Amino acid sequence: MSSAERGSHHQVVAVLLSLVHCVQCMARSQLAPNQFMRKFCIYIPNQTDRLEMPSSVTLSMFVKMANYTILFLFSLIFLSSSHASVQDFCVADLIGPDSPAGYFCKNPAKVTVSDFVYSGLAKAGNTTNIIQAAVTPAFVAQFPGVNGLGLSLARLDLAPGGVIPFHTHPGASEVLIVLRGYITAGFVSSANSVYVKTLKKGDVMVFPQGLLHFQVNAAKIHAKAIVSFSSASPGLQILDFALFANDLPSSLVGKTTFLDPAQIKKLKGVLGGTG
Ligand SMILES: *[C@@H]1O[C@H](CO)[C@@H](O)[C@H](O)[C@H]1NC(C)=O
Ligand SMILES: *[C@@H]1O[C@H](CO)[C@@H](O)[C@H](O)[C@H]1NC(C)=O
Ligand SMILES: *[C@@H]1O[C@H](CO)[C@@H](O)[C@H](O)[C@H]1NC(C)=O
Repeated sequence: MSSAERGSHHQVVAVLLSLVHCVQCMARSQLAPNQFMRKFCIYIPNQTDRLEMPSSVTLSMFVKMANYTILFLFSLIFLSSSHASVQDFCVADLIGPDSPAGYFCKNPAKVTVSDFVYSGLAKAGNTTNIIQAAVTPAFVAQFPGVNGLGLSLARLDLAPGGVIPFHTHPGASEVLIVLRGYITAGFVSSANSVYVKTLKKGDVMVFPQGLLHFQVNAAKIHAKAIVSFSSASPGLQILDFALFANDLPSSLVGKTTFLDPAQIKKLKGVLGGTG
């Protein structure tokens, strides 16, 4: 269970408890619910003011609904004053371990605005590398404020000829917006259908969770994009690196990919794999 889910479960339990409490007080008071609310709780507007009811809803049904709604709102008012500080956020305490539910929360007293601001995407990543491209992440590890919020982002820079090779984010869907240049982007579905398009500045494309996808610079100028993820820790697995940048024996790579040994040797050499 993520910290956000835990928070909302606590909230539901607290709503129910304060509802029960309110109803008990009301029963003991021997006042009609509306009188009780007026006396002890909140102003209740005239229920007949500006009502637009479907004809099937009778006035008495509405009055009942209104009473319950007011009770419910009343409970929420209780809640929002007593629990606000622990439920608003859970800034990552990066000293502790990461887990599927995210990091532990930093002590709220020590949280500052800089936990919610990240300037690391202002600068272009270094594209002097084999892929002539750079991914600059603003995931929870770089940007602790996104912990538990189910989102994060990254900056893509592609020099002319640059490519973000086939990869997948096991934990998130992705949306990409092109800020400069032209990018040919695509993904392959589980049914092996290909969805590919050359995007220009301002275009947005979405990549469903877990599917293999890529981005290639489609022009002779530097291309820039911002991508956003539906997780604070989307994860990243690059297909070629998984195959050729480790010590998976070449014989097994050949067996499982049907590539010939010379090609495997070459790619292992380029990407730093052994075996
Ligand atoms: C409800 O409306 C009536 C008539 O407009 C008014 O006299 C009365 O004071 C109102 N009651 C409340 C609680 O606003
Ligand atoms: C709702 O309020 C009305 C008016 O005060 C009251 O007559 C009625 O019994 C209440 N209904 C419930 C379900 O509390
Ligand atoms: C970019 O990376 C290359 C290769 O690692 C390095 O030689 C170069 O100094 C870096 N450039 C900058 C501006 O950091």
